[in-house]
Amino acid sequence: MKRLNIHDIMAHKGKEPLVVLTAYTASNARLLDEYVDILLVGDSLGMVVYGMENTLAVTVPMMIAHGKAVVCSTKKALVVIDLPFGSFQASPAQACETSTSIIAATGCGAVKLEGGVEMAPTVKFLVERGIPVMGHIGLKPQSVNAMGGYRTQGKNEKDAQSLLEDAKAIELAGAFAIVIEGVVEAVAKDITAQLSIPTIGIGASPACDGQVLVIDDMLGAGGEYIPSFVKRYADVAGITKKAVSEYAKEVRARRFPSAEYCYPYKKN
Ligand code: KIV
Repeated sequence: MKRLNIHDIMAHKGKEPLVVLTAYTASNARLLDEYVDILLVGDSLGMVVYGMENTLAVTVPMMIAHGKAVVCSTKKALVVIDLPFGSFQASPAQACETSTSIIAATGCGAVKLEGGVEMAPTVKFLVERGIPVMGHIGLKPQSVNAMGGYRTQGKNEKDAQSLLEDAKAIELAGAFAIVIEGVVEAVAKDITAQLSIPTIGIGASPACDGQVLVIDDMLGAGGEYIPSFVKRYADVAGITKKAVSEYAKEVRARRFPSAEYCYPYKKN
């Protein structure tokens, strides 16, 4: 099977919506691969896998470890890996060094970075050096301290205009696609109409060219809090709790392992 590349993804513009999910582990990635176009090894792994309060302490070695697991266990989806906070903002050269180390170590097909107009020169620098880049505008979790929390973006005309400028700058810099996070519908719709690259929404309405969700959120596998834009497609936490409580009961009652789960003893 041929793995999807950035040109396959760009060809979706205005056609069938792109299906994107985050993946952090081999077991999840193996299950998701056949159903999605892109697997995003997002820095949300800091919160989802490591229980961090936000994404700011995620490191390049973490992204490489999880990125390798996802690439090794998949055949079809384009794998995109996030550049974590502090690994790319200082200069285009720093972003290039981080991106090349991630791509060389994992074999992923592209990197993603958060930022608008201010990051456009960095995106251009990477793209000109053969590094495919996915942009990420709107609610940027790595700017949580600057934003004063996770706030919906594009609520007034000035904000909407600056989001459109961000999107256009990232497109002009050569990004192959752009994530739009936590943005009001009319603004996401306008940006999607004005760009020639696919937009991938998360909390940004069906107007986008594709959708991305955090896998644990949509499976109901994570903690108590999930954002209001997430639809829970399963109750994995409930299923897990039921299975584990049954296992615990059976172990304590010496009902597990029963004979069929033991190696038989054969007399010669
Ligand atoms: O880190 C992440 O998982 C992301 C998506 C939620 C878009 O950036």
